[in-house]
Amino acid sequence: MPTERLVLRRPDDWHVHLRDGAMLKAVLPFTARQFGRAIVMPNLKPPVATTADAVAYRERILAAVPAGVSFTPLMTAYLTDGTDPDDLAQGFEDGVFAAAKLYPANATTNSAHGVTDIAKITPVLERMAEIGMPLLIHGEVTDQAVDIFDREAVFIDRTLAPLLERHKALRVVLEHATTAEAVAFVRDHAASGRVGATITAHHLLINRSHIFQGGIRPHLYCLPIAKRETHRQALLEAAISGEGPFFLGTDTAPHPLTAKESACGCAGCFTAANALELYAEAFEQAGALDTLEAFASLNGPRFYGLPVAEEKVVLERSPSTAPDIVLIADGDGVLPFRSGETLNWTFVGAA
Ligand code: DOR
Ligand code: ZN
Repeated sequence: MPTERLVLRRPDDWHVHLRDGAMLKAVLPFTARQFGRAIVMPNLKPPVATTADAVAYRERILAAVPAGVSFTPLMTAYLTDGTDPDDLAQGFEDGVFAAAKLYPANATTNSAHGVTDIAKITPVLERMAEIGMPLLIHGEVTDQAVDIFDREAVFIDRTLAPLLERHKALRVVLEHATTAEAVAFVRDHAASGRVGATITAHHLLINRSHIFQGGIRPHLYCLPIAKRETHRQALLEAAISGEGPFFLGTDTAPHPLTAKESACGCAGCFTAANALELYAEAFEQAGALDTLEAFASLNGPRFYGLPVAEEKVVLERSPSTAPDIVLIADGDGVLPFRSGETLNWTFVGAA
């Protein structure tokens, strides 16, 4: 008899793109409906680079939370070559920043202001290690000579491993891990308690062949790009393991439909509309619904040193339909991942 009802401590999303303006208003309610807290990515245009930027952005996010919904945005700083260590540390100590995000310059969407050479932010990283501020990493090399499917594994060898050697107390999260190499690397450092990894729902559900199934499917294109099936299997095995360093981060990354369905479509999957249903599906396929709560609700808060949620939410094993296009106030829309398709699970709400 399959599980018909899942009751979990209210999960958190440790990696979201909420955007700004009309897009923020359109997408935030989806994240706030399912998750109690979320680590908010800072790659706006211009980026959320200073404590003052983050205070202002947090206000705009809170103003977009629907009445009666409790949701805590956890803010991050976008590191640049010019990040001021004093401002960053002040922001962390004042509780404005939960972490800082490292985008290698030009690795992905809105990363043009990212770090051009990690050596340039050595004083920033030393300070972060000192105060226990986590570094969240987009782990891909930007060397265009490296094959797109290898950029994460090469980043681990060339940048991440030496970084952890140089900064022995720095705490890092390898965001949206997509490879077996990432899983192995995180496990190798598990004993130190200073390395974590988020895993998206889409990387648990698709491999690279899905992106080209019957034609090119722009809504399955994200960065880091989905890898071959063996990597999906490794990610799934890590996610369902219950091991502390692996936790939920959707990387929900909405883009207007016109920017996705274009000759040069943007990277990002909008999974917030049914994130928990998608994770439940992946865990169920792996026969591991019993470890979903550790992955979704326990491991993340423990890594970040935050309390686990007391509230609970319910998922039911009944079909739901991924919503149709979500209209943005300015006339365009965002298409949810698996839009119009039937999912096996339904998010019911608070227990
Ligand atoms: O697919 C992605 N979309 N990957 C990222 O790293 C950034 C994100 C975005 O902001 O759209
Ligand atoms: Zn992201």
